[in-house]
Amino acid sequence: MNVLILGSGGREHAFAWKISQSKKLSKLFIAPGNAGTAMCGTNVQMSSTDFPSIRNFVLSHDVKMVIVGPEDPLVKGIHDFFLADDLLKHIPVIGPPKNGAQLEGSKDFSKQFMIRHGIPTAAYATFTKETLNDGYAFLEKLSPPYVLKADGLAAGKGVVIPHNLPEAKAELKAMLADAKFGIASSKVVIEEFLKGIELSVFVLTDGISYKILPAAKDYKRIGDGDEGLNTGGMGAVSPVPFADEAYLKKVEEQVVIPTIEGLRKDGIPYVGFIFIGLMNDNGNPKVIEYNVRMGDPETEVVIPRIKSDLLELFIAVAEKKLSDFKFELDSRIATTVMMVAGGYPGDYENGKIISGLENVKEAIAFHAGTKSENGNIVTNGGRIIAFTAFANTIDEAIKLSYVAANTVKFEGCYFRKDIGQDLMRLVKGK
Ligand code: AMP
Ligand code: GLY
Repeated sequence: MNVLILGSGGREHAFAWKISQSKKLSKLFIAPGNAGTAMCGTNVQMSSTDFPSIRNFVLSHDVKMVIVGPEDPLVKGIHDFFLADDLLKHIPVIGPPKNGAQLEGSKDFSKQFMIRHGIPTAAYATFTKETLNDGYAFLEKLSPPYVLKADGLAAGKGVVIPHNLPEAKAELKAMLADAKFGIASSKVVIEEFLKGIELSVFVLTDGISYKILPAAKDYKRIGDGDEGLNTGGMGAVSPVPFADEAYLKKVEEQVVIPTIEGLRKDGIPYVGFIFIGLMNDNGNPKVIEYNVRMGDPETEVVIPRIKSDLLELFIAVAEKKLSDFKFELDSRIATTVMMVAGGYPGDYENGKIISGLENVKEAIAFHAGTKSENGNIVTNGGRIIAFTAFANTIDEAIKLSYVAANTVKFEGCYFRKDIGQDLMRLVKGK
């Protein structure tokens, strides 16, 4: 079958890499893709939110499945757009409809969903411009640090964690009264700060049954030791040592099952990934957030660990036969290190020539912000390439990821040097 993947990051390269190995695949298209996805299929110069162009492309190229990478097209309703069109409605879209995408598109919606269905999460309240003074009063009752979340999508920047009360109040005012994040901060969720280690758990559902994919840990800050600004993610490890069988059983019983049942009770026909961001609170999972897509760079360690044919897995989702699917995993550890542009997550320049890619032997180089230009592969974004390696221990895998990262260069390139270190200490401390 012909397949179209929407998106252009490392996540989409990992999807494309895996699907290009499927025996069910005829032609693979990626829109808009990057220089890495172009090695797995055909890139199509089309935005992932340009629904009319996607419609024309799908119909003219006999596409039989659309896999949505990022949240934007989902929150904007690509699934509903297909269902409302007589010529498209039989083509499966892997990704939830708009009402399901609200789990990521609105923090207030997702908090209400968790409370309604008894899913453990931080205590919270939601405020608007009209209730700004109530927001101040709520902050006064909490102890620092404070967690303020713009309700809507804010390009990953909508969560602010001030460490004192005056800053928290100023931030709340900036978000609500001064529209710091535009319409996305017309509502703000204030919640209790959770301590602990974060874990990303991924679930794939056909709306009836579900499969829990390998869990992963992401490294969000730009600097070693988790210092500095938040990024999209600087590296990842899967599996995660503290997420053992007993812990994952708790996650399944307390979070995954109530989430799937909650969606069903709420009449949301969810199809696709649910990415559950968890805080491990003294051995108990608490949900920080839902995303309605796979994580990036988590995908670059999760997808390579799936031995089964990914396209067959998606077909099972589309046909609502996921419960029958025999799901096979690689038991080895996968690590990835993300190489980014100098200046990221602040300002950075595009167009730097990337060298050494042909010498990468120890890892898979998943491209994120890259494109081909005049016979070169050049940078085209903040996060550039993720180097994914496998081994039987985190130490060995991460060593290979770093050998690969040190093989590749471009002006200003940077990566964290401590990916996986905390987990190695955890393993050795046991
Ligand atoms: P989000 O955009 O919801 O992923 O939040 C960004 C990051 O903020 C999360 O990955 C956490 O590191 C942090 N965060 C969000 N909510 C909380 C919370 N209630 N307690 C502690 N940290 C949080
Ligand atoms: N790596 C975190 C995310 O994809 O949101």
